[in-house]
Amino acid sequence: MDDPRTSHGSPEPLDVLEAIATTRAIRRIRPDPVSDDDLAAVLFAATRAPSGSNRQPFRFLVLRDGPIAAQAKALLARGFRAGWDAKSAADGYTGAATADPTSRKARMARTMQEFVDTFQDVPVVVLPCLVRYREPSSYEGASIYPACQNLLLAARARGLGGVLTEWHALVEKELRALLDIPDGVFIAATIPLGRPRGGHGPVRRRPLTDFVYDDRWGQPAPWLPADGEVG
Ligand SMILES: Cc1cc2nc3c(=O)[nH]c(=O)nc-3n(C[C@H](O)[C@H](O)[C@H](O)COP(=O)(O)O)c2cc1C
Repeated sequence: MDDPRTSHGSPEPLDVLEAIATTRAIRRIRPDPVSDDDLAAVLFAATRAPSGSNRQPFRFLVLRDGPIAAQAKALLARGFRAGWDAKSAADGYTGAATADPTSRKARMARTMQEFVDTFQDVPVVVLPCLVRYREPSSYEGASIYPACQNLLLAARARGLGGVLTEWHALVEKELRALLDIPDGVFIAATIPLGRPRGGHGPVRRRPLTDFVYDDRWGQPAPWLPADGEVG
């Protein structure tokens, strides 16, 4: 068994801050199976997340190799293709914007197309769900999305990768029927998981100083490094 502290591919244990800074959306995923051990470790991390009043209302429906999983993945693949078709048209991922095949947009469009076209071959798909215990509210995500991020960070630490997506929404009715998901359970995301085809790398975000105010809305924090870099 891989040492869980080192199986992310480096001889050194992965520092939590380093993991946070390098957990990117992984959409190029190998079809190779994920071990029970890795999957259990990732789900354990997910279930250690905080939730309101520690109610732990999260559940994780895991789709791997069974006949129902295969049907669900095929159904989700349909949703993902429709989701990407809509997004690529709405966000300008077609035509002139992607004419230069080396541009970021063109590369992203190729990755997305491959992602949705091969979705059913992803070895593991996790549906993080929230068992509602009160009326839907804009805060309810706070009791499920921390678990999703824990899951992705643990996946990173185990050399796996994935991405939080919401394109199950396009086939949700059929998906609920197929998987017997009761009313009152919110499917918060669809997270495909597996070994990345490429590498992990630093996330692309604006400088820290763009996000932090001090004392008053809009007021820069004088105690931050001016270049937004944290050592
Ligand atoms: C709430 C939420 C919804 C998302 N939905 C999708 C989605 O439906 N499809 C997809 O491919 N990526 C989705 N993503 C992934 C984001 O596009 C991605 O995390 C973001 O572009 C930043 O990229 P990075 O994680 O590689 O830094 C979603 C992320 C979040 C947090």
